[in-house]
Amino acid sequence: MDARFPQESLIKRIERIATRKDAIAVTNYDAEDFILNHIAHLPEKSFIYCDPPYYQQPSRLYLNRYKREDHARLAKVIQQHLHRKWVVSYDGAVDILLLYLGRKTFLYDLQYNARRAYKGKEVFIFSDAVRIPPSSSLSFVEQALRRLVPTRASASAAVAA
Ligand SMILES: C[S@@+](CC[C@H](N)C(=O)[O-])C[C@H]1O[C@@H](n2cnc3c(N)ncnc32)[C@H](O)[C@@H]1O
Repeated sequence: MDARFPQESLIKRIERIATRKDAIAVTNYDAEDFILNHIAHLPEKSFIYCDPPYYQQPSRLYLNRYKREDHARLAKVIQQHLHRKWVVSYDGAVDILLLYLGRKTFLYDLQYNARRAYKGKEVFIFSDAVRIPPSSSLSFVEQALRRLVPTRASASAAVAA
């Protein structure tokens, strides 16, 4: 675990989280079960962050591997049944952009640190109700903002750029 985060900063994060322990509930529901059967009980103004297993390297990173059809089914559940504001994060794979075609997407470069450092693309995908600032003074954010909502034709180019 400390390949990604130095021990000291991990400890600090855990201690900060602990100060909010009364506001945190931890469950172990399957993601689709949680969306379909539990989110309706959360306040309307809830903001849901979905961080599914990576699309491109699932077998190395996770024991419970998601296959393409699992990602596709989850994308459908999120877009059709998640009636709160939401954001999904993924590695920037063309297939993922296509599963969420038409949604606002924020594609950016990320430096991975697991085992070896290499640069990859990551994407945030937003529900229509989430408002995104139209511009940013940070150039990498501005660049990503200009690439919002890639079309089917532009998805491959956006990931390769
Ligand atoms: C990209 S990681 C999320 C990591 C987490 N957000 C964090 O920052 O530590 C994906 C997570 O999804 C979990 N996962 C895999 N299949 C799942 C399922 N069917 N329902 C809910 N979570 C699942 C994996 O165990 C893994 O922890």
